[in-house]
Amino acid sequence: MMWQKNKKKITCLTAYTYPMAKILDGICDVILVGDSLGMCVYGFPDTVDVTLEMMINHGKAVMRGVEKSLVIIDMPCGSYEESPKQALTSARRIIDETGCYAIKMETDKNLADTVELLVKNNIKVMGHVGLMPQHVRKIGGYKYQGLDEKSSQEILETSQAIANAGAFALVIEAVPEKLADRITNNINIPTIGIGASINCDGQVLVIDDLIGLNTDFKPKFVKRYTEVSNSIKTAAQQFCLEVETKKFPAVENIKK
Ligand code: KIV
Repeated sequence: MMWQKNKKKITCLTAYTYPMAKILDGICDVILVGDSLGMCVYGFPDTVDVTLEMMINHGKAVMRGVEKSLVIIDMPCGSYEESPKQALTSARRIIDETGCYAIKMETDKNLADTVELLVKNNIKVMGHVGLMPQHVRKIGGYKYQGLDEKSSQEILETSQAIANAGAFALVIEAVPEKLADRITNNINIPTIGIGASINCDGQVLVIDDLIGLNTDFKPKFVKRYTEVSNSIKTAAQQFCLEVETKKFPAVENIKK
């Protein structure tokens, strides 16, 4: 096992492009090529229409920029739910074509057999429970999950089934702290929280949310550490002003 529970907290951020991967490499333990690229890169309303080709292409770009962190790539909607065999074919394509460390998939209880097959075929799998954004159209939005005893118990049992199937880590998204803590204390693989609990074994965030690059939507649990959209706007306005007032390019910068 690469990570041990109750040791140093695991850090994970998303990246979808070569320059962002180069910046984040070595800072966080894991770089996740999340299917959140659907919103962050393509401007889709959700992750549902992200394709395997998109994940592989962005995965390749990220891999070119990374030397130190582990790269994990999301299995997109429609690439694994049909059958364990379909999942194996898709996962093999992601691993073989990008060279990434592992895949992540949104895991309901029915997918335990799929996880088991992938693991038997030497594919490292990170599970994902709680709010599963690929189900957002079915559940009617980005809502906290596990709010009553029945659904909370279901999420705990799913987490145990996915851990027992051989997943090496589990993302827990948008569930009450008490449930995230129960899961963390009752499975033997590390949990990575997002809007879940500080007691998870690690935390993941979408980089665009963290730096204020995505101005469409800010989940409640996100802390913005900077507002890069402001710096980009200022630089762009400065450039336009200099061009319009004929101050660009500065003569002293041009080698004759
Ligand atoms: O797609 C993604 O970025 C994710 C993380 C937010 C966990 O799944």
